[in-house]
Amino acid sequence: MIDFYFNGEPQSLAGLPPDASVLELLRAHLHATGTKEGCASGDCGACTVAIGEIDGQGGLRYHNANACILPAHQLKGCHLVTVEGLARGEALHPAQAAMVDCHASQCGFCTPGIVMSLFTLYETTLDEAERQQASLAPFSQARLEAALGGNLCRCTGYRPIRDAAQTMLAYPARPPETTPAWAIDESLPARVAASAQGGTEAPGTPLPAQAAEGSYHRPASLAAFHVLRRLHPEARLVAGATDLWLERTQQLKILSELIDLRDVAELQVLEEHDDGLRIGAAVPYARLKPSLETHFPAFARLLHRFASSQIRHRATLGGNVANASPIGDGPPVLLALDATLILDGPERARELPAQDFFLDYRQTALKPQEVLREIVLPWLPEGRQLKVWKLSKRREDDISAVLGAFGWQLEGGRLRDVRLAFGGMAAIPARARGAEAALEGQPPSESIFAAARRALEDDFQPLSDIRGSSDYRRLAAANLLERLRLTVMAALSPTAEAPAADIPDTPAAQQVTLDAYAD
Ligand code: FES
Ligand code: FES
Repeated sequence: MIDFYFNGEPQSLAGLPPDASVLELLRAHLHATGTKEGCASGDCGACTVAIGEIDGQGGLRYHNANACILPAHQLKGCHLVTVEGLARGEALHPAQAAMVDCHASQCGFCTPGIVMSLFTLYETTLDEAERQQASLAPFSQARLEAALGGNLCRCTGYRPIRDAAQTMLAYPARPPETTPAWAIDESLPARVAASAQGGTEAPGTPLPAQAAEGSYHRPASLAAFHVLRRLHPEARLVAGATDLWLERTQQLKILSELIDLRDVAELQVLEEHDDGLRIGAAVPYARLKPSLETHFPAFARLLHRFASSQIRHRATLGGNVANASPIGDGPPVLLALDATLILDGPERARELPAQDFFLDYRQTALKPQEVLREIVLPWLPEGRQLKVWKLSKRREDDISAVLGAFGWQLEGGRLRDVRLAFGGMAAIPARARGAEAALEGQPPSESIFAAARRALEDDFQPLSDIRGSSDYRRLAAANLLERLRLTVMAALSPTAEAPAADIPDTPAAQQVTLDAYAD
């Protein structure tokens, strides 16, 4: 049974298959077809919906999410808002009205998703302004890109869409008689919270009972997880589902036994300890971001380029590590930071350096009964540097061709504890041991970096694929090392040439780029 709210109406659904997506639920069962399917892989944003979750103050906080790769069972205890829920009669939400007035809808197919991303931007902006008692200012370029980077408009009508974003806050507030009832219902957060416990209200739109194969489990503790794991050893683990669900939508696999980790309290910790920042494996990137901004700003800056807002609100660092993709953006950073992983088994937990976790393509050191519990990012000692640079075909919402994460420090004018980690260069995220050895203990100079680039050629034999040829990857990795040289030399000599923060495409983008990614 899944109890949640849909555009303000209670829903209590039984018989839903474990691997049903929110998009399938909307279009096939709830007959709400305003939400579209484009790519079915979390890339285009046509399926964007808003998910309202109870925040720490008992209110509802909304984020955008891709319905195509969102398990319907994760709606439990949430308020699902779709494009059908924003208007009342002819009275549009400001995000919709601004889209109309700015002529921002062309094909119309991607428009509902864009409207929902604007809706969450509007709602979170009003929330923030209220909390900080700030007046509303135009959005910065970086803020707009962060909010809309996951919505593709194939006819490239971005300028009017951005105009709509910039003008929607100026629309007058709707009077109660033209506002959807749910938006002014002060009891809604409490009722949504109650739906997490299940079965408190009659269903608004009951599903026909189905004979669903398999089961979807939501344990609330590690102890409960281990019991379930013993009973269902073949079950797949789900957190954000942003990678796993592609097996459903792209490979058409049936995921019949699933254990959801999002309710496991021990996997939701986010704490500062003496040994570092401890991150529960089910903490979404969006929740992690403020801690990274404070303690690991180079990692935080990467998040702007780590997929889209929709994905960052669901995906987890733990999932990024445990699925062991060779092109995951998080793992190379963990290698550069010398992070520790805590693996939890039915009998005991054990610690493992992140560099010993990845064994082979999609193979990890996790034993069958174990689960990744926490990632510990050790604090950066005074003078320790971290840089993370990602190369992909698009700046937003794209998968890396090559990612470099580099950690080092200078002691007595020599490079120490050099860690050069790469994604996209091997079957696993891996350190460039030969290049590291060429730099370790050496005073920085053009010649030792040239030696490191030569050593790098023997460190990896990258594959060619859709994101880049083997030759491209070798050259790109060598160029990232050159960028590291420029960075190190610039720090030593203020007159040395510093590397550009990113590759600018227009003067405006150049300024944005420098603002957003400045080292
Ligand atoms: Fe493209 Fe969901 S349909 S992101
Ligand atoms: Fe749909 Fe541009 S309005 S592709």
